[in-house]
Amino acid sequence: MLKIGDIEIKNPVVLAPMAGVCNSAFRLTVKEFGAGLVCAEMVSDKGILFNNEKTLGMLYIDEREKPLSLQIFGGEKETLVEAAKFVDKNTNADIIDINMGCPVPKITKCDAGAKWLLDPNKIYDVVAAIVDAVEKPVTVKMRIGWDENHIYAVENAQAVERAGGKAVAVHGRTRVQMYEGKADWNIIKQVKEAVNIPVIGNGDVQTPQDAKRMLEETGVDGVMIGRAALGNPWMIYRTVRYLETGELIPEPSVREKIEVCILHLDRLIALKNEHIAIKEMRKHAAWYLKGIRGNAKIRNEINECNTREELVTLLMNFVEEVENKQQSNAQAV
Ligand SMILES: Cc1cc2nc3c(=O)[nH]c(=O)nc-3n(C[C@H](O)[C@H](O)[C@H](O)COP(=O)(O)O)c2cc1C
Repeated sequence: MLKIGDIEIKNPVVLAPMAGVCNSAFRLTVKEFGAGLVCAEMVSDKGILFNNEKTLGMLYIDEREKPLSLQIFGGEKETLVEAAKFVDKNTNADIIDINMGCPVPKITKCDAGAKWLLDPNKIYDVVAAIVDAVEKPVTVKMRIGWDENHIYAVENAQAVERAGGKAVAVHGRTRVQMYEGKADWNIIKQVKEAVNIPVIGNGDVQTPQDAKRMLEETGVDGVMIGRAALGNPWMIYRTVRYLETGELIPEPSVREKIEVCILHLDRLIALKNEHIAIKEMRKHAAWYLKGIRGNAKIRNEINECNTREELVTLLMNFVEEVENKQQSNAQAV
């Protein structure tokens, strides 16, 4: 069983942290589809320390989401330690994760995110200071390196372990790759072989079969799924079932997909407000509709929606349209 510190995680399937996506509304929905662990979107250490209202709102966790890992980012030891202390004392997160993978220039130019990857000694220093300051288990999510000439994944993971970190998640790309090219699972395997703390593999798990292959090929303790879960929480459920029983459950019907989309929408409205939720939901709705034939028109129309009623009417009309088409196709056969 995957265990991070004292936190027992009932299966090895982990929802990746995703900024602008992994708030409580989405995490809870994914949790209900069986994820062993859900990760929250990254939160700025300085935002916490300056009591920024929006940032503090990002620390909200519904009890039903637990176990949950809350990720903070920053480029300085002192502020990261203080923010970790705040998360430790004032949130019901189970795990505090440090972001050492974000490739975005706005983040790396402040020495945060993937910038840490260039110096294992600095990683040791900051992780040890955070571990010292908090009670919750501390973990690190990292990329394999900065660029192909600076791949210190093994040294960096060993530094995390020596500093008292309780797990590492490794995305098999360098910072320079951003989201391009292929994730290098071989380096994830090397990390797994080099440390004794749990290693969670990440990158390019698009199907339940990929998850199984990653576990088998790299020996990792958990598999983290990001983009494949966007608008697709049943990817998590299908993966959990596939790993447990070998059974590949069929994709849900269009109606099921849209019903989950509306559940997600209602949770987002409850979390934020209707105006913000509808705006945020536009991208999610497009993800839920991905792969459904004839979705081009509705994807454009969604961007014009301003209320729950408009969006739900649009989605439900689309379901009926698709179902009618399916029925007449079936009759024609
Ligand atoms: C929209 C989006 C937002 C992301 N935000 C974060 C983040 O806040 N923290 C983090 O560590 N990684 C973040 N990532 C990276 C993912 O956690 C993950 O490492 C990456 O997408 C590779 O996994 P995948 O191939 O399963 O998508 C983000 C990725 C995406 C697509």
